Amino acid sequence: MSCDFLALAQPGVQKLSPYVPGKPVDELARELNLDPAGIVKLASNENPLGPSPRVLDAIRNELAELTRYPDGNGFVLKQRLAQHYALQIDQITLGNGSNDILELVARAYLAPGLNAVFSAHAFAVYPIATQAVGAQGKVVPARDHGHDLDAMLAAIDENTRVVFIANPNNPTGTWFDAEALERFLARVPDSVLVVLDEAYIEYAEGGEMPDGLAFLAAHPNLLVSRTFSKAYGLAALRVGYAVSSAQIADVLNRVRQPFNVNSLALAAACAALDDTEYLAASRAANAAGMRQLEAAFAELGLRWIPSKGNFIAVDFGRDAAPINHALLQEGVIVRPVAGYGMPTFLRVSIGTEAENARFIEVLRKVLAQ
Ligand SMILES: Cc1ncc(COP(=O)(O)O)c(C=O)c1O
Repeated sequence: MSCDFLALAQPGVQKLSPYVPGKPVDELARELNLDPAGIVKLASNENPLGPSPRVLDAIRNELAELTRYPDGNGFVLKQRLAQHYALQIDQITLGNGSNDILELVARAYLAPGLNAVFSAHAFAVYPIATQAVGAQGKVVPARDHGHDLDAMLAAIDENTRVVFIANPNNPTGTWFDAEALERFLARVPDSVLVVLDEAYIEYAEGGEMPDGLAFLAAHPNLLVSRTFSKAYGLAALRVGYAVSSAQIADVLNRVRQPFNVNSLALAAACAALDDTEYLAASRAANAAGMRQLEAAFAELGLRWIPSKGNFIAVDFGRDAAPINHALLQEGVIVRPVAGYGMPTFLRVSIGTEAENARFIEVLRKVLAQ
């Protein structure tokens, strides 16, 4: 008789639901027999500009070395990041996407009997990484869809080792300012590691958004995680990084796979960091696209959550699943967020002007039906 290998998995894993990514274009094309070229995907908070030519050159230059393992220490990229942000190299941990960083933290600091605190409507990987190592996720109700930092502080107990906070948050786009972050960090016990997830920070820099890196010196229990997947446009290559104290970085490096970031990703990230024009274009396109979608939502009488990310959550005031279904039939992929406790919302990633316009046109049609 064959064994029940689900029952043999550790209890936290048995209760996990797998991460549901945005539907791939080719999958929808196959399912509905559509031309992939006519499909618009605004579902995974990807950069709509396509790769930067400087990044493509850097990747091409690297191809001849494909038979070699990458530099397991990622020295050159770490050095570039250290120069760029005035850091010490030993403060940096590289990840296979910033997702990898979140998992390294969970593997190093969480275990059965311990817990991680995070908000409702927070990034889906926090509960996955936490439960996967048998720890408990303590979910704190949100306030106005955003993090309720006071309630999160109150949820910390003697078994809490990690707090995950995202600024801005995905999928809500909500954010908190420097004063709120400082107040929070000043009150978190020194023994609790605060993971400040800044996956979208490059879209939001300036204004009222705090720069997490500026808080590291005063708060040794802070780790800032960032990624090249969003504003730098390298989602397929998988490269992210953590900045923390050297001691925390040393711990994470103990559980990290030896070659977790591949050589094409390392070369591309170095090129991307220098490509200030691409970053500026990403920001400008995102700001314009955000205005385009907000204007359309206002005109359609829809409410949305103001967002500092490259996406926006729009509220239909009723179950959004049929609207999502109808959009898919027309070749428009956005992200349902019922799994994030937001069943009346859809999350729409900011696309190019033409992609946004197509989405708006189809949405108008669907809502008129
Ligand atoms: C808040 C947040 N953190 C982390 C990530 C992970 O991104 P990556 O692994 O591509 O760096 C995402 C991706 O969507 C995200 O939304």
